[in-house]
Amino acid sequence: MRRVLVTGGAGFIGSNFVRYFLEHYNCEKLVNLDLLTYAGNLENLSGIEEDLRYSFVKGDIRDSVLVGRLFAEYGFDTVVNFAAESHVDRSITDPDIFLTTNIIGTQVLLEAAKQAWKLAPQDKYSREYREGVRYLQVSTDEVYGALGPEGKFAETTPLTPNSPYSASKASADMIVRAYYKTYGLPVNITRCSNNYGPYQFPEKLIPLMIHNAQADKPLPVYGDGMQIRDWLYVEDHCSAICTVLERGIPGEIYNVGGNNEKANIEIVRLILKELNKPESLIAHVQDRPGHDRRYAIDNGKITSELGWQPVHTFEEGIVRTIHWYLRNPDWLEHVTSGIYADYYKKMYGE
Ligand code: NAD
Ligand code: TYD
Repeated sequence: MRRVLVTGGAGFIGSNFVRYFLEHYNCEKLVNLDLLTYAGNLENLSGIEEDLRYSFVKGDIRDSVLVGRLFAEYGFDTVVNFAAESHVDRSITDPDIFLTTNIIGTQVLLEAAKQAWKLAPQDKYSREYREGVRYLQVSTDEVYGALGPEGKFAETTPLTPNSPYSASKASADMIVRAYYKTYGLPVNITRCSNNYGPYQFPEKLIPLMIHNAQADKPLPVYGDGMQIRDWLYVEDHCSAICTVLERGIPGEIYNVGGNNEKANIEIVRLILKELNKPESLIAHVQDRPGHDRRYAIDNGKITSELGWQPVHTFEEGIVRTIHWYLRNPDWLEHVTSGIYADYYKKMYGE
């Protein structure tokens, strides 16, 4: 039975993962370390606090003293690192924090894991670790850069990140790789495509468009809206991470995606249709600087080597997602007030 440190577990994917993991796995302990930035919301985990296997710690993955103390206190054998600054547009206006959280934070976690798990921590040549330990870095397909109209990202595709966000995630992947190559730390990296589902902060495309459409506000589509993303329902990402924890080969990278490419404008139209709102709400606005045109994931490695498959179709997942936001107006109201409202004004005006 695992003793797991989940970082960033109050965010979108992290909170879905905490729920998924506690429901599907008989783990002994799960500690959620989260700084509760604008994107971290404990409401995402309501009900979970009652599970005796679960503990929440408010703290920073860059705090090596805190992270070391948590390893000593809880004896983790597994780390799943979701904690990150995750929004491309924010990385364009304020890149600094992306570098410290996403890169330094990752290195702090890797070092703590190495110190805690290495059988002979003082011996720099030793590559022996406690049985069954694993560090999993949750990365993104954005590290591969942008595709033209053809082809897909494979694990062997060179890293050519284009935004400060994706550059910071690629840098973190390189540090994870270095801890495997130099110290033999048992690591995996997963690189997933765009996720959607419940509890996603409404600065990202799908919840932002649902939120605006409901309020009859304009839907800001960047440029021509023909940029393509490869969408995966968040629960399928969670199951892929669990599969890698169970069967992943140490040092290996696994791409995660569901073969579901859609142009942004297609998604926006679909949301409007489902909500019975007019297409006149669509407002083409200035394009994002350095906007990646197309992402698409080749998931052949995780499906053929580890036997993972997504179970949600986009058609079913998107309707389920839209209706989740409709059923949870309080959640949307809470996250769109305060700090987020100021950010929204800065990005889009009133
Ligand atoms: P999110 O922004 O919703 O959540 C990030 C969480 O990390 C928040 O709870 C925040 O409070 C926490 N956090 C931020 N800085 C921290 C720090 N210094 N210490 C501790 N906690 C901190 O992000 P998300 O969309 O859930 O993404 C989670 C991870 O998955 C990220 O690493 C992201 O790069 C990756 N990813 C996301 C997607 C996607 O479509 N959202 C796709 C592929 C990979
Ligand atoms: P986003 O959800 O920010 O994810 P990422 O940039 O990490 O892929 O954006 C998804 C796509 O939607 C991307 O091509 C940018 C576009 N987009 C808009 O057109 N308008 C918006 O207001 C936002 C937030 C995104």
